[in-house]
Amino acid sequence: MGKTLSIIKPDGVAQGLIGEVIKRLENNGLKIICMKMLTMTKDQAESFYEVHKEKPFFESLTYFMTSGSIVVMVLEGENAIAKYREIMGATNYREAAEGTIRRDFATDIEKNIVHGSDSPKTAAFEIGFFFSSFEVTG
Ligand code: RTP
Ligand code: MG
Repeated sequence: MGKTLSIIKPDGVAQGLIGEVIKRLENNGLKIICMKMLTMTKDQAESFYEVHKEKPFFESLTYFMTSGSIVVMVLEGENAIAKYREIMGATNYREAAEGTIRRDFATDIEKNIVHGSDSPKTAAFEIGFFFSSFEVTG
């Protein structure tokens, strides 16, 4: 069993897509084992996206991620990281496959509804960023 971190970004929450995203996760065999809603500070967003700090979109991305509430979840399942990235679709919604969350709902390369960890190492960092080990029990 693998674990991955999912975020419904501020645009997803603002568009009323919490239920839709959760339905797609559950329909695809991903189990939600932890969940909370919060609004990140700029400092928190900058720490979370530390790996992107040299990218031209860093400032805009970290500002956007603090623009409203987000829903943070730990997902568990077989090949959870890859399976969830498949359900999300490509970063750029124009290149995302039919039936993916981003293809169906994203409006912009940045405002793309959801986040998902991209490797076991980042999943461990990202899960630990939002949840204590006592919470991640399944
Ligand atoms: P995520 O981390 O959010 O699951 O998305 P990802 O792996 O598909 O994309 P990544 O390359 O890690 O980029 C993180 C987020 O930064 C925004 N982004 N903006 N303006 C741009 O060119 C650009 N590129 C990326 C997106 O919000 C992306 O999800
Ligand atoms: Mg990423």
